[in-house]
Amino acid sequence: MQEQEQKLILGIDIGASGIKGAIVDIHTGKLQNERMRLVTPDPATPEAMAATFAELVDMHKWKGLVGCGFPSIIKNGVAHSAANISKKWINQDVEKLLSNASGCKVKVLNDADAAGIAEMRFGLGRGEHGLVILITIGSGLGSAFFLNGELVPNTELGHMFLHGDIAERYASNNARKRENLGWDEWGARFNEYLEYVNHIFSPDLIFLGGGVSKKFLKYKEHITVDVRVTPAQLLNTAGTVGAAMYAYEMSKK
Ligand code: BGC
Repeated sequence: MQEQEQKLILGIDIGASGIKGAIVDIHTGKLQNERMRLVTPDPATPEAMAATFAELVDMHKWKGLVGCGFPSIIKNGVAHSAANISKKWINQDVEKLLSNASGCKVKVLNDADAAGIAEMRFGLGRGEHGLVILITIGSGLGSAFFLNGELVPNTELGHMFLHGDIAERYASNNARKRENLGWDEWGARFNEYLEYVNHIFSPDLIFLGGGVSKKFLKYKEHITVDVRVTPAQLLNTAGTVGAAMYAYEMSKK
């Protein structure tokens, strides 16, 4: 068999605390270089973040297509929310802004959706049917929703209401740090959140992504919700890999 053509795309994962990038082989999901990271500017305004994004693209000496995961609702490249970033992002054409800043063509999607795409294609999601939900645990709670392998974008399950506020204020990693919660206490809270998700959607499988998924053993015993829950396999790299894959898919349309 002829060797498959290698297709490289720069994937960038913009988060509330860090902006990470790597060149991704979209056929294998493998990173071609050590992932690079810059600190997200504070305040995380469009101008400041676009400049940091462009710096990261430059660090890769990249001139081609870029896929980018972004921490908000994204429709046709435009941001429609801003929970953990500056409110100035709302209604910004993120694709246009980042393309202009970097001189590259940039395709943008929600960051949790990007992580989900990678996990479904190259991680434990391969071959999983029915309803699969990935919850990313970080500054906020992100979600990616797959029905028979097909993404339903922008689900924002971290913004369901729990105890009178959006759930991420109660059960994200930021909530754990802000309220100085031990793993037991936070694990019980997070399980309560998963119970709620399970009650509303009855998924077949829940993946946990984001930094805290690596610490699963610290709170595993509290995750008693009646559905299969497992840490994602790709962990930190999922956001960059999925963003690159999304840009590739979009470039074919
Ligand atoms: C945002 C989501 C994002 C998640 C993880 C939430 O606050 O509303 O769009 O996916 O954080 O970054």
